[in-house]
Amino acid sequence: MIKNQQEGKTVEASKTVFTQLIMPNDANPLGNLMGGNLMRWMDIAGGICAGRHSNCHVVTVSVDNVSFKEPIKVGDVITINAKVTRAFNTSVEVFIEVFTTSLPTDIPKKSNNAYFTFVALDADTLKPTKIKPVLPLTEDEVKRYEGALRRRDLRLILGGKMEAKDATDLRQFFRDLD
Ligand SMILES: CC(C)(COP(=O)(O)OP(=O)(O)OC[C@H]1O[C@@H](n2cnc3c(N)ncnc32)[C@H](O)[C@@H]1OP(=O)(O)O)[C@@H](O)C(=O)NCCC(=O)NCCS
Repeated sequence: MIKNQQEGKTVEASKTVFTQLIMPNDANPLGNLMGGNLMRWMDIAGGICAGRHSNCHVVTVSVDNVSFKEPIKVGDVITINAKVTRAFNTSVEVFIEVFTTSLPTDIPKKSNNAYFTFVALDADTLKPTKIKPVLPLTEDEVKRYEGALRRRDLRLILGGKMEAKDATDLRQFFRDLD
């Protein structure tokens, strides 16, 4: 856990919950929610969460692997939980989980999850601006905080923004592949 709590914000402080009833207009001809609609709502929930953490307008810079395990049907209720995991300099990673409830049951089933990365922009210059750190408190939050550096290395390498030799957490992994 980070020692100086004054310098950052907890995960809870920006946690965002987004709920939606799936309507016919959201679905494909089979009556299943279209993947693009789900990704849009995940992006909105994640953007609100990143904005709350940074107190800035944010833009989506990257979305990690999103897979759809089971169809979500018209009439289902989805709940999207978005939580910051770690802020770097001007970017912040957000962990997004989707749960589905098929009425009349009230037991939510996890549908999928993904990591989105957002960049905070300065309101005047619209340039990337510094974000305060995330303060992980629970065991899960600490685990995701620690894994964030590895995930960042990987997405920057895959996005052509970083050379494998410059990776921090993943450097050893790429050395082993040489
Ligand atoms: C996001 C954006 C402002 C970054 O601008 P840039 O000139 O690349 O700025 P930088 O290179 O300084 O990168 C800014 C941050 O983005 C991160 N970043 C850049 N590309 C990334 C990628 N592919 N994956 C993850 N993070 C990335 C950088 O690591 C940096 O984070 P850090 O400061 O925490 O280290 C610019 O690319 C942009 O405007 N993109 C379009 C965003 C958009 O319209 N999104 C969809 C609609 S919201």
